[in-house]
Amino acid sequence: MKESTGIGSHLEALPSRTISDAVAFRAAMRHFVGSVSVVTTWHGDRPWGMTINSFTSVCADPPTILICLNRKTVTASHVQNTGRFAVNLLSQDQLHLSEICARPAADKYIDEHVLSPEDASGPSSMPLLRDASVVFECRAVEQLVVGSHRIAIATIESIHVLVDRPPLLYGQGRYMRGIELEMRA
Ligand SMILES: Cc1cc2nc3c(=O)[nH]c(=O)nc-3n(C[C@H](O)[C@H](O)[C@H](O)COP(=O)(O)O)c2cc1C
Repeated sequence: MKESTGIGSHLEALPSRTISDAVAFRAAMRHFVGSVSVVTTWHGDRPWGMTINSFTSVCADPPTILICLNRKTVTASHVQNTGRFAVNLLSQDQLHLSEICARPAADKYIDEHVLSPEDASGPSSMPLLRDASVVFECRAVEQLVVGSHRIAIATIESIHVLVDRPPLLYGQGRYMRGIELEMRA
C-alpha cells in the first residue's frame, strides 16, 4: 500500500487567506447532496461503524472506490493500519444507525446491526450491516493525507447486494429523501 503526503503538504503551504475561504467552502458544500454510508471495521473483535458521505466510485476496471476520513477518527486509524474496511450504502430505514455512527468521540460498536455469517449472501471478512442496500468489501491500494483527512483509494474485493430500498441522502445540513423527477422527452 502506497502512502503520500504530497497534496496535504502543498495545501498546508497555501497563504492564510484560505482560512476565510474554508468558511465559504463549507457553506457552498451544504448544497451538495449525497448518499450516506457507514464504513465498518473491526475494533478488537467487535464491529465498529462510522458515518460518511465521501464515498465515490473511481473506476470500474479495476473496480475502485475512494472514501475520505477525518484523521482523528478511530476508523481512519484502522484504515491506516490495516487497509481493510467495508462501505455499507444505507437505506432510508437506517437513519437512526447513521446518527449512532456519527456521534463524535462516542462508542460506535454496532454488534446488533451486523448480519450473522449464515444470513450473508456469501463469505465476508468485514462486518456487513443488515438492511444496507449494498456492501462493498474493500482493500486500500493507496492512501493520501490531505489536510485534516485521509483519502483511501481501494479496490473492491466483494459486493453484497442486500435490500432494494430507497437510499438515505444527506445535504443542506439534514437527512433527505430522494424525489424522483418526471422524465422529459
Ligand atoms: C451525513 C454525515 C456524513 C459524514 N461524512 C463524513 C465523511 O465523509 N468523512 C468524515 O471524516 N466524517 C464524516 N462525518 C462525521 C463522522 O461520522 C464523525 O465525525 C465520526 O463518526 C466521529 O468518529 P470518532 O468518534 O472516531 O471521532 C459525517 C457525518 C454525517 C452525519
